[in-house]
Amino acid sequence: MLPTSLAVLGTGLLGQGVARRFLAGGLSVAVYNRSPAKAEPLAAIGARLSATPEGAVETSDLLLLCLSDAAAVRQTVFSEPCRPHLPGRTVCQMGTIGPDESRELAELASSLGARYLEAPVLGNGKDAEEGRAQVMIGAEPEDHQRWHPLLGLLGRCFWIGPVGKAAALKLALNQLIAAETTAFALSLGFVRRSGVPVEPFLEILRQSSLYCPTFDKKLARMRERNFASPNFSVRLLLKDIDLFLAEATRLGLRPDALEGARTIVRDAMESGRAALDYSALIDVVDPPPKSELAKDTRPI
Ligand SMILES: NC(=O)c1ccc[n+]([C@@H]2O[C@H](COP(=O)([O-])OP(=O)(O)OC[C@H]3O[C@@H](n4cnc5c(N)ncnc54)[C@H](OP(=O)(O)O)[C@@H]3O)[C@@H](O)[C@H]2O)c1
Repeated sequence: MLPTSLAVLGTGLLGQGVARRFLAGGLSVAVYNRSPAKAEPLAAIGARLSATPEGAVETSDLLLLCLSDAAAVRQTVFSEPCRPHLPGRTVCQMGTIGPDESRELAELASSLGARYLEAPVLGNGKDAEEGRAQVMIGAEPEDHQRWHPLLGLLGRCFWIGPVGKAAALKLALNQLIAAETTAFALSLGFVRRSGVPVEPFLEILRQSSLYCPTFDKKLARMRERNFASPNFSVRLLLKDIDLFLAEATRLGLRPDALEGARTIVRDAMESGRAALDYSALIDVVDPPPKSELAKDTRPI
């Protein structure tokens, strides 16, 4: 059954794409963003703008959360003004948060009379907008049954298990972003500094089992050191690494390699790159020499 109305709370990079996809599907969509300017363009394509989270919640059956983290979720949909409107509605948490955080939110939702499912996404806002994201669902079977046809508009859906399981799977995938990006940046910098031409390096890599598609996705940005208009920010990557490290340690794993990647991501954050695309990690791994920065704009 498709709902008569839904709300997207958080219209940042992911939420923009999610809202646009449902609007394009002819659904009634309310949107709320803490900074109103990010939600306003959606009004032009039919979204109902809400100045407050409770305004979006009270008119919607399904509340899709595309917020930074669990703290942001608590401060919006579970804020005091929203709570009276929650009974009978379903909270669908789409951000990347920890499994324990998600289970706590599920309990909170239940105590307030709402249903809860988690539906973290692999893919960026554009992927969601174009219906080719991958959606991992952690939910009771009845909530999965009810909502997966709608979530399927965003791309392929996978039911992973009860709440917490999809959140865990999403962390397992996201630690690969840090691992693959830092490893590729290191090899790219190594090749360049060794005076080896980049093209044969790339050609051999593409033909080998070492290749990951993300290398070519980020190559142009890294070569041009163009990290504006992010697909996914350095800040949120650090958040995901920290969530993964806490969980991996609890599970008895040795995430030493990721600790190294974390240092790089943290240094990117602390050097003013928090809001940039995560391809900016190359600036930490392979810093552009200061003298060259001023006079030499040759790409890598
Ligand atoms: N971008 C991607 O490709 C992608 C893909 C899959 C999953 N994710 C996950 O999806 C979530 C959103 O990511 P994003 O890339 O869309 O991030 P983003 O562009 O930075 O957007 C974050 C959103 O959260 C809101 N927010 C943050 N703190 C808040 C608070 N305390 N109260 C109310 N609203 C708050 C922001 O509002 P303001 O605009 O007012 O700051 C914005 O709407 C994250 O968990 C991320 O890890 C992202």
